[in-house]
Amino acid sequence: MFSGISSRYDVMNHLMTSGLDRRWRRVAAAQTALAPGAPVLDACCGTGDLSLALAAMFPSSEVTGLDFTEAMLARARTKAARREARGLPAPRFVQGDLLALPFADDEFAAVTVGWGVRNVPDVPRAFQEMRRVTRPGGRVVCLESTQPPPGLGARFHLVWMGRVVPLLGRLVTGDADAYAYLPASVEAFPRAQELAAIMSRAGLTRVRYRRFGFGAVAMHVGEVPGAGKVRA
Ligand SMILES: C[S@@+](CC[C@H](N)C(=O)[O-])C[C@H]1O[C@@H](n2cnc3c(N)ncnc32)[C@H](O)[C@@H]1O
Repeated sequence: MFSGISSRYDVMNHLMTSGLDRRWRRVAAAQTALAPGAPVLDACCGTGDLSLALAAMFPSSEVTGLDFTEAMLARARTKAARREARGLPAPRFVQGDLLALPFADDEFAAVTVGWGVRNVPDVPRAFQEMRRVTRPGGRVVCLESTQPPPGLGARFHLVWMGRVVPLLGRLVTGDADAYAYLPASVEAFPRAQELAAIMSRAGLTRVRYRRFGFGAVAMHVGEVPGAGKVRA
C-alpha cells in the first residue's frame, strides 16, 4: 500500500495534521535523550522525516532509518542526499522488517517508530524487537495515531478521520481507498493505556505517554532496564 502513495505521503501528513506532524517528530526525537555520538534506529522510517529530525538534533549520532517499502526509502534517500550536499550529517537508510530487525542485540542507544506499529500484524513482537536492539538504559519512543479519550476531541476526531481525511486522501493521492482505511485501523489498534501495557510486557520500564492533536496522537516512551547509559 505504501508504494502506491509514497509520492504524496508527506503532503498528506502535513495536511492531515495541519503541519503539526513536524513538531511532534521533533518532540519524539528529543525524547530519545541521546548522548553525543550515540547510534539511533528509526524503525518504519517511511520517507525519512523522523530520521532526519534525529540527524538534525543529534548531529554526531549515526542515524539508521529502516523500512520494508523500497519506494518510501527512495524518497528518504533523496532527502538525505540533499542534506549531505549541504554538508550536513544525514541518516543511512536500510530495507528491513520491524518484526525481524537485521541488527544485533543492544546495537542502538535508542529506537524510534513513527506511525509504524499500527501497520504491523504483531504489535507485541514489534516492541520486543525494538527492546532487543536497544541498550540497557536506552529508550524506545513510539508516535502513533490513537483513539482520543471520550469528549469533544473524540467527536472532532470521528468527523476528521471518518470524513475529511478520506476525502483529502482521494483528492491528493487520486486513490479512493488510500486513506479510507485509517479510521478503522485506529479503531482496531490498542488504546493508549493498553499500548503502554504491551510495551511493559515487552520488557520496557518506566513506560509513560502523552497525547497531542485533540488526543488523537500518542507518544509513548519506555526504557530498557539496566545501567543508565545511553552511551556512544
Ligand atoms: C505511516 S508510514 C510512517 C512513516 C514515518 N515513520 C513517518 O513518521 O511519517 C508507515 C511505514 O511503515 C512501514 N512498515 C510497515 N510495516 C513494516 C514492517 N513490518 N517493517 C518495516 N517497515 C514497515 C511502511 O512501509 C511505511 O513506510
